[in-house]
Amino acid sequence: MIEIKNVSKSFGGNEILIDINAVMETGKTNLIIGTSGSGKTVLQKCMVGLFEVDKGDILFDGKDLTTMSEEDRKELRQQIGMLFQGSALFDSMTVEDNVKFPLDMFTKWSHAKKIERVNDVLERVNLKDTNSRFPAEISGGMKKRVGIARAIVLKPKYLFCDEPNSGLDPQTSMVIDKLIHEITKENNMTTIINTHDMNSVMEIGENILYLYNGKKEWEGTSKEIIFSKHDKLNEFIFASEFLRDAKDMRMLEEKGIIDNDRNMEEIMRDGGANLVMGDEDKEPE
Ligand SMILES: Nc1ncnc2c1ncn2[C@@H]1O[C@H](COP(=O)(O)OP(=O)(O)OP(=O)(O)O)[C@@H](O)[C@H]1O
Ligand SMILES: [Mg+2]
Repeated sequence: MIEIKNVSKSFGGNEILIDINAVMETGKTNLIIGTSGSGKTVLQKCMVGLFEVDKGDILFDGKDLTTMSEEDRKELRQQIGMLFQGSALFDSMTVEDNVKFPLDMFTKWSHAKKIERVNDVLERVNLKDTNSRFPAEISGGMKKRVGIARAIVLKPKYLFCDEPNSGLDPQTSMVIDKLIHEITKENNMTTIINTHDMNSVMEIGENILYLYNGKKEWEGTSKEIIFSKHDKLNEFIFASEFLRDAKDMRMLEEKGIIDNDRNMEEIMRDGGANLVMGDEDKEPE
């Protein structure tokens, strides 16, 4: 569990994060969402100690990053895996060497043991036998999976992913989301994902923080987003008319007003009139 307590951060007089309070739960995919520039990356960078906060505390299972010694920080960093925006692989290194890099940095394992671990994680992300390829020789989705393999190679307790789906098609994005979600469950990690991908929000949003201009405006689950009446959140999530319609349909499903396996013909026969209104809006019979 990671607790963020009253965290503020400014750059040159610009307040970027304003008094953020949040809890990132263990064994869950915790999402940070918000428009471009709302402060998602800055918040993640504060959480991993790449930026120092101006005010507040960040507790990793009770241990405060903002006050701990440099030695304790080093130890904590080894428990943190990071998947950077754009994967950030070393172009001149093979897939194997990219994934092995954290092991070379932080362990004194034998070469054979390192390779065994590298092969384990590559297999986990479905990239068996790609060891000798270079980043330029693999697709964007594969690069993300190499990034994930590298992020988990040290068996981290905490996994940070900044926009893991950027530049990927919706189907490949789902594969990446599911992979991160499954790995989180398998290893009971505390996972934090920055995203503005609506599919991710709906599919793996177990605990969602919504940032707006550096403030936490809302938090909840993907189900709660469907019912949320928060204007700014709704404008952000359901930006198109199509998505607003989809939200309405999902609400009706959740309320049990229509079946998940609805028969559209039947629904449309009466023009959908009795569906558009929720229970509470219905005229008395
Ligand atoms: N090192 C920095 N120095 C000064 N300002 C910064 C720095 N890093 C970020 N900012 C500012 O902080 C604000 C929030 O940026 P941040 O990168 O966290 O946004 P974001 O929510 O991650 O956006 P995106 O969705 O585009 O990735 C922006 O106004 C940005 O210009
Ligand atoms: Mg960002």
